[in-house]
Amino acid sequence: MVSRKRGRVAKSFARRKASSGTRAKKAAGHPVVVHNLATGRIHAMLPIKPKPEEPRHRAVDERVPTGIPGLDKYMDGGFRSGTINLIGGGAGSGKSIFCMQFLIEGIEKFGENGIYISFEEDQEKILDDFKPFGWDLEKKIKDKKLVILYYTPQQVEKVVEAGGGIVRDTIESINAKRLVVDSLTAFTLLHETELARRRAMLGLFDNARKWGVTALMTSQQEQDPTTHLSSVLEFETDAVILLYNIRSGSSRQRSIEIFKMRGSAHALSIFPLDINGHRMSVAGKAVKLKSRPRR
Ligand SMILES: Nc1ncnc2c1ncn2[C@@H]1O[C@H](COP(=O)(O)OP(=O)(O)OP(=O)(O)O)[C@@H](O)[C@H]1O
Ligand SMILES: [Mg+2]
Repeated sequence: MVSRKRGRVAKSFARRKASSGTRAKKAAGHPVVVHNLATGRIHAMLPIKPKPEEPRHRAVDERVPTGIPGLDKYMDGGFRSGTINLIGGGAGSGKSIFCMQFLIEGIEKFGENGIYISFEEDQEKILDDFKPFGWDLEKKIKDKKLVILYYTPQQVEKVVEAGGGIVRDTIESINAKRLVVDSLTAFTLLHETELARRRAMLGLFDNARKWGVTALMTSQQEQDPTTHLSSVLEFETDAVILLYNIRSGSSRQRSIEIFKMRGSAHALSIFPLDINGHRMSVAGKAVKLKSRPRR
């Protein structure tokens, strides 16, 4: 039989033992069981607070290569990790190709999985559109390196519901580091009032920053760089890349401009852009523009 005094001493010894001898376990977030050394019985379960989650993304000054050959050198090395970046341009200017190539580069060269959220086309149509590029999207989806999420107008609320619902779960399940939203214009237009659109957009940005991914979001913009007007979206995002398909005589010239990039010494010229059967790339000297007065 253990005396009451001996019991008290043993209890306090057990507590001291727990605080010194189990630090490693506590640090690792494991529950700590304290034994009474006199009786050998379990004396207490110390409540262990879980360690705060490590941020999922790299430091913001780390660069994430764009995947577009010839472009990173004009962007201080690429997108800043964990940022939200707008890819703007007119119809057919290459926004979706730019974004999918960014995801493919992440998967193939850096082992960074990606998610492509579409508000306009379903997975079957997207796979069909990108077939000529030979990126074998089906295999990447099968290997859980790429996920294409298609949202109908009725489901759109789910993207900004508390914490991000399915999107957040998908990011966690495949450990995605790169995210594409195509298009932000379609996403915001699915909300009725201007206020609801702005709220939805800011909610999406807020979630994307919490998810810790490097995000590209596309938006419909004017085709003409000389009449470009900044939209609300451009003030809210970390970088703005504009794609053009400008008419020059009897043909059109594709080009790209790094319009804004926080924290980066980026190029200020507009460069020719090429899309061939396999990829998009930046090549050649800066494009000279004939400026036109703004309306
Ligand atoms: N395999 C290919 N080779 C060369 N050019 C291509 C190829 N596939 C598509 N294109 C060009 O890219 C354009 C479409 O690019 P993309 O779908 O990325 O444009 P977008 O800006 O997303 O357009 P939208 O606003 O309609 O969504 C086509 O109109 C065509 O000019
Ligand atoms: Mg598109």
